[in-house]
Order: sequence, then C-alpha cells, then structure tokens
Amino acid sequence: MDAKKIKEHLKTLSYGPASESAEPALHWLKKHNSRFGHFINGKEIFSVSGHFLQTHNPANEEKLADFSFGSVEDVDLAMNAAHAAYPSWQSLTGERRVRYLYNIARTMEKYARVAQVLESLDNGKPFRESRDVDIPLAVRHFRYHAGWALTHERDYHSHKAPGVVAQIIPWNFPLLMLAWKIAPAIAVGNTVVLKPAEFTPLTALWFADIIKEVGIPEGVVNIVTGDGSTGQAIVRHPIPWKIMFTGSTEVGRSIREATADSPKELSLELGGKSAFIVFSDADLDSAVEGLVNSIWFNYGQVCCAGSRLLVEESVEKILIDKIRRRMNMLRGIMPGISQLDKAIDFGAINSRQQFEKIKQMCSANVNERMEIYRPRFWHYDGPNNRHEGYFFPPTMITNISPSSVLMQEEIFGPVVVVMSFRTPQEAVELANNTRYGLAASVWTEDLEKAQEVARNLVAGTVWVNDTNKFDAASGFGGYRESGFGREGGREGILEFLKEDCPKSLYYTMTDCDGAHPLRNDDNEKKNDRVTKENLCELDATYRFLIGGKLARPDGQNSFVIQNKNDAVLGVFADANRKDERDAVRAARNAAILWREAGVDLRAKILYFIAENLEKNRGYFENLLVRSGAGSNFVAREVDTSIRRLLLYAGLSDKFEGAVQSAPYHGTVAAMKEPRGVIVVRAPDEFPLLGFISVFAPAYVTGNAIVMIAGKNPLLAFELLQTLQHSETPAGTVNLLSSLNPNEGAIRLASHKDVDAIWYFGNASGSAAVKKASVSNMKYVLSNHGALIDWFGLEGESEKFLRAAVNIKNIWIPSHY
Ligand code: TAP
Repeated sequence: MDAKKIKEHLKTLSYGPASESAEPALHWLKKHNSRFGHFINGKEIFSVSGHFLQTHNPANEEKLADFSFGSVEDVDLAMNAAHAAYPSWQSLTGERRVRYLYNIARTMEKYARVAQVLESLDNGKPFRESRDVDIPLAVRHFRYHAGWALTHERDYHSHKAPGVVAQIIPWNFPLLMLAWKIAPAIAVGNTVVLKPAEFTPLTALWFADIIKEVGIPEGVVNIVTGDGSTGQAIVRHPIPWKIMFTGSTEVGRSIREATADSPKELSLELGGKSAFIVFSDADLDSAVEGLVNSIWFNYGQVCCAGSRLLVEESVEKILIDKIRRRMNMLRGIMPGISQLDKAIDFGAINSRQQFEKIKQMCSANVNERMEIYRPRFWHYDGPNNRHEGYFFPPTMITNISPSSVLMQEEIFGPVVVVMSFRTPQEAVELANNTRYGLAASVWTEDLEKAQEVARNLVAGTVWVNDTNKFDAASGFGGYRESGFGREGGREGILEFLKEDCPKSLYYTMTDCDGAHPLRNDDNEKKNDRVTKENLCELDATYRFLIGGKLARPDGQNSFVIQNKNDAVLGVFADANRKDERDAVRAARNAAILWREAGVDLRAKILYFIAENLEKNRGYFENLLVRSGAGSNFVAREVDTSIRRLLLYAGLSDKFEGAVQSAPYHGTVAAMKEPRGVIVVRAPDEFPLLGFISVFAPAYVTGNAIVMIAGKNPLLAFELLQTLQHSETPAGTVNLLSSLNPNEGAIRLASHKDVDAIWYFGNASGSAAVKKASVSNMKYVLSNHGALIDWFGLEGESEKFLRAAVNIKNIWIPSHY
C-alpha cells in the first residue's frame, strides 16, 4: 500500500472488506446436489408427496437449495421411527448416552466452519455472530447435556424419559434452537421429531449428517422439513407425549388450543418485548454498546431483544445523542460486502414476509408526534438502494406513548422505542407494562438498586449491566405471554422427564367409598338445588372466604350436598362471576404482601394449620364419616393431611434457587418466585386430603390463591375456620364453592388477572380450562382426568412446588 493510501486509511479508520469464504458451505450443498429429503430413521427420505420447497439467501434472494415439504404422511413416518427407536434408546445406560452426546459435540466442532457459513447464508445473519455465538453455544448444549445423560440417573432416579418428543423451532437461531431442544431430550432417553423453520432448514440438515457420522441409533433423531402445515401435522399426531415449541405467541396460542383435548404436555417459548433500563448512574458508554448488542444483534430478530429502551429522564438527551452517534457507525451489508464479512454489525432480515411485517407495523403505527432516527449512511449508500435482499434500517423511535402498538407489540426487527422515567418504581411499572415477560436489562452502578429492580421485573431473565447472555447451564424461558417451561439447566432437564412414583396401598382402593362419598356424585342435578320449601329445614349456607372476610354470595343460588345415605351434609353457595372476580381481586391485592412475607412466616402458618387440624382431628374424622368415607380411610386421611402440611412447611425454605455454573465472569442466580395469583380447582376425591395436598404447596411458595372446593365442599369449608385461626393474612387464601366447580374453573381460566390455574377434575374440564387459559397464556397444571395417588408419594411430589414457582435468572457480571 502506498503512503498516500495509508495516510487516507489512518484518517478515516474505516474497515476494509474482510469476507469469510462461502466455499465450505457451497461445497456441502453441492455434495447434496442442493436437494434434500427429510432425515427419518437414520436415512434421507424424500417427501411422499414429491413436493419441494426452496430456501434462499435473504441478502441477495439467490436460491440455496430445495428441500422436502413435510406432508402428514412424512410426519407419520418420522413419528413411527421415533416411537420404534425409543425402547432401546431409553434402556441404554447413561454411560453410553454420555458418549453419544459428547461425540455429537466433538463432531459439530470438527465441521463447525461449514455450519457457521451455512447459518449465515441461510438466515442472513453476520458470519461473526454465527461463528461466535450460534454454533459455539449449540456445541456447548450438547456437551453440557452429555453430563445429564448420566447424572440424571442419580439426581432423578424416580423419573423416566417417557417417549417421543415433538419439537418445532423458529428461524432466528436455527441450529442453536435445535440444540436447545434435541440435546436434553435425547440425553435422558427420549427420541425426537424436529421441524426446523421453512426459511432456515439447512443447518438442521447439516446436523443430520453429524448424527449419521456419530452413529446415533436410527430413529432417535428425526428431522422433517416443511412449513406451518407440517408443524400442525406434528402437533396433531397422537404419538408424542410432549410438544416443545419455540416461536410466536400467536402460533403458541393455537398449539395450546390444539392440544387441550389430550394429556400431551407442552412447553412454549414465545415472543417478547423486553425492556432495556438505563439509570442516570450507569456507565452510559457501556450502556450504548449494550444496547447495540441488545437490539441490533441478529438485526433485532431475537425473542429477548431490548426493544424498549427506558432511560432516566436526567440523562435521556445525553444517551440519545450517544446512541445516534453510535448508530451512524454501524456497518451492514452493502454493495461488495455480504453477511460473510467479519466486520459488519447487522445482516439481512430473514425473509420477505418478516421484512414486510416490520415495514407494515412501523408505517401503520408511526404518527407525526414520534421522532424517528435512522443512521445517516442509510440514505446514500445503504443497502436499501439495492433491488434484491431484505433490509430495514436500524431505527430508534422517541416521543412515543406507552400505549402505542410499537411500544407494546413485538416488532422482531431492528427497531427500538424509547421512553423516559423518573424513579426506579416508574421504570419497573413501565417495564412491566406489557403482556410479555421474557427478559430485561438493567444498567446502573448501584448494585442494590439493580437487585431491587431485577426482583420486581416480571421477566424470566434479567441481565445487570449486560445483555443477551445465554448458556446451557442456565434455564431460559418466559413469564406471562412469553410462554412457560424452561430450556437449559436443571429445570430444563426436568421438562423431559416424568416422575414414576410407587403407588400407595390406598391408590388401588380409590374407587371405594372413601373417594366419592356423595349421594349421586353429580351436584348439578336439579333436585339438589335449594328450594324455598326445603331451605328453612336446613342449616345456614356456608359463606365464602374473600379478602379475609366471610362473604355473602352475590348470587342467591345455593345447593345441598348429601351423602350416599341421603343425609344432608350442608348447604353451599354457588359462586357467580362477581364472587369469582371479587376473590381474584382480593388475591391480587394480597399477592405482593404474601410474596414479601418471606418463607419463615409462610411455613409458620402451615405449621399452625397442622396444629389446629391435629387439635380438632376428632371433629374432622366425624365429618369424613358423615361424608361417607370408609372406616379404613378416616384416620389415615386426617393423618396424611397433617403430614402434608408439615412436609410443605418444612420444604418451603429448602426449595431454594441456585447459583448456576455458566461459564460467565460473574454470578448467574436462579431465583424461584411465586407465580402470583393461582386459581386451584381442588380434587373431588378425598375432600380433606385432596384439598390440603394442592392448597399447601401453592400457598407456602408465596402465591395468593383462590381455591374452588371440589364436589364435596364440606371439609374445605369446615377447614376455613382453622385457616382463619391460623393467622392467614387477608386475601392470601380465598375460598369459593360451586355447584359445578368445573364451570368456575373454566371461567377463571380466562380471567386476565390470574397467573396460573391448577385443575384437578375430569378430562373434559381439563381440556376446557386449557382452552380458556389462552386468554393470557397462563400456566396450567392439570391431571387431565387421571386419578392422583393422594395418599402416596405422587400426592406430595415436588412437581407441585415446581408448578407453584417461576424461575428468574439474574446475570450479574464482575468487571474486576
Ligand atoms: P412462528 O411463525 O410462530 O413459527 C415458529 C415455528 O412454528 C416454525 O417452524 C413454523 O413453521 C412453525 N409453525 C407455524 N405455524 C404453525 C402451526 N400452526 N402449528 C405448528 N407449527 C407452526 O415464529 P417465527 O416467525 O418462526 O419466529 C419468531 C418468533 O419466535 C418471535 O415471536 C420470537 O420472539 C419467537 N422466539 C422465541 C424464543 C424464545 S426462547 N422464547 C426464541 C426464538 C424465537 P414455518 O416457519 O415453516 O412456517
């Protein structure tokens, strides 16, 4: 280079081209004639329909390959292959599976360059990101989960991998999402059928080559390519015991509805609108770099992108100026520079559809009050001047109101919206003012403030002075409409296992008289209703417990419960919508107080209840006898109920969070937090034990609850006095009775201020509750009509505690 050029370069300090070669990926495509079948039972199988789809490079719209369209028949083939492979894969020892998973990781590393380039070409993301983030993290997932193949046998010896897991993933991190799903599933002995997204099937097909090379037994991993209809066929297929889905909240909602009628389990990793909160005492330059990494990493097509910048008012102007300056220095794809260039910050939007969606969302919702900033270079030499490729400018929108669609809805593109706040409380309120709850970032030099804000944010992951960090050892997932379930870490591994408890002696006797003491087991019969004629002969109606008070029912309908000898057990009010709303309101008002009350007080109250039950055991035994319980059950039911209260009181401060072993310079803390307001539809069988077994774990973990008693509410309502005498704070537990408890549960499943619903009734009620829960995608715990062994270990499984909490991961770096 001559001296003049060197001088010029020193002046501008601009980057020269630094492209990675496309050759390894092109060579791999050529080897496959750029035409792919599915990967089923260890072989490449072309679609039964003979139909192909195409995938393109989004930066220049050039075709990369044809791939098979997955029809219903193809899905069936893959499911059957996975089903046939399951018994022998599941019965392998952990030592064997460790080796397989470790070898997958090693082989992926061996051919990593192909995957890095392929991912970048197929998705449009900068090569630097696929090289430094996507592929290494995918490898790490296999290495991390290799460990679980063996250790789960020790830590979860009463659990078992149940069978075939169906997995559906999006296009934003294709190989990484595949690794999140396949690694834990096969580590513990499940087999899988996975569908990659229509726009990015290539690295999944590259992974099929890895599986073949490693010699994973046929049928353990099956990959079916296709589009949304292929996903639908997977969801509807009867074989899988679980559907694991990552994608939009909209499709997640449809999957929740489609699976409601079956006992299939579900985990949903959905969309987000994450807050990026900057306080005035933050290192503002670091925060600006953090924001670049948060909203322009993968061009904003990240579920946890910091797409809402909340900045303390006193530094708003300074920060915005800094961001504008930084935006002008961003480098993207431009003529002569592709996504394989190692010095670009952003690539292309993944597909025309997504590009149009971003454009449409922005143009439809921008108003003249808003200020829109785009990098200066965009207007003269930006890639928008080109005819091909999908490019949307990095965009910052200020002067926006909190209710704007752009502030509330996921754009899934390179657009950040900005608002200011004055106090930490206001920052938290603004951050939580969304239907999502995936992640957040907090920037401040005051660690105490950071921790307090992190605690109050409704989000599955909170990064302090950092952003977009992930690791296999740390479970990732959302609150609210960002879904439920976790991927990664200990809680992630539990998503792929089912507890296999030995049954108690009493389980087989459940059908005898102790379980169903009512005269006709059908409270809905008209002649059970209280009429003017028989009302005066009966005792007064039991009142509800709402907000700490005995509340008169709003409606004036009551019903009588009789035992099987026609003796009247009591008159109960039939809760209507207003009673239910009042109970939810009371629970909501008490939820924060109860969460903050701390485990010691909560355990103490459970001990009190146990003590009071013990004191009155004769009384409760009598009630059980009156209810028709068999003599061999009565004492046992009271004893087990007391034991259960003692057990959960004891467990409450031993069911802790963890500091996770992520390779991170700092601390990654997993905190277990109550879900908030839980509605519990109590079981019909064993009206004392069933009620206490679901009440105790939900309550002691800090949730405010609305209990709907089962079909025989007598024991629950008699317990009410015991609850009150045991100093339960007002509103933390509310109790309703219902002529048809299912109806109440279904109504409350669609209530937007309820965070979770536990349902223990019949299968049709369970299906209806799951369907209704899509209103805000609340978490549902349900037995789907199957009988629970309330006397045995199943009745006190840790799954109840796990269902009562959400896990929030807080990442705190250490810079020294
Ligand atoms: P979706 O349109 O929801 O698609 C996700 C996957 O579901 C794709 O494989 C898609 O197939 C398939 N699909 C589409 N319709 C289906 C149906 N009715 N039944 C079953 N499967 C169906 O999402 P996307 O646009 O690919 O991804 C972006 C979304 O994913 C964003 O909302 C983002 O926030 C979210 N996301 C969340 C996370 C986590 S961890 N929470 C991580 C990444 C992304 P085709 O693509 O072939 O149509």
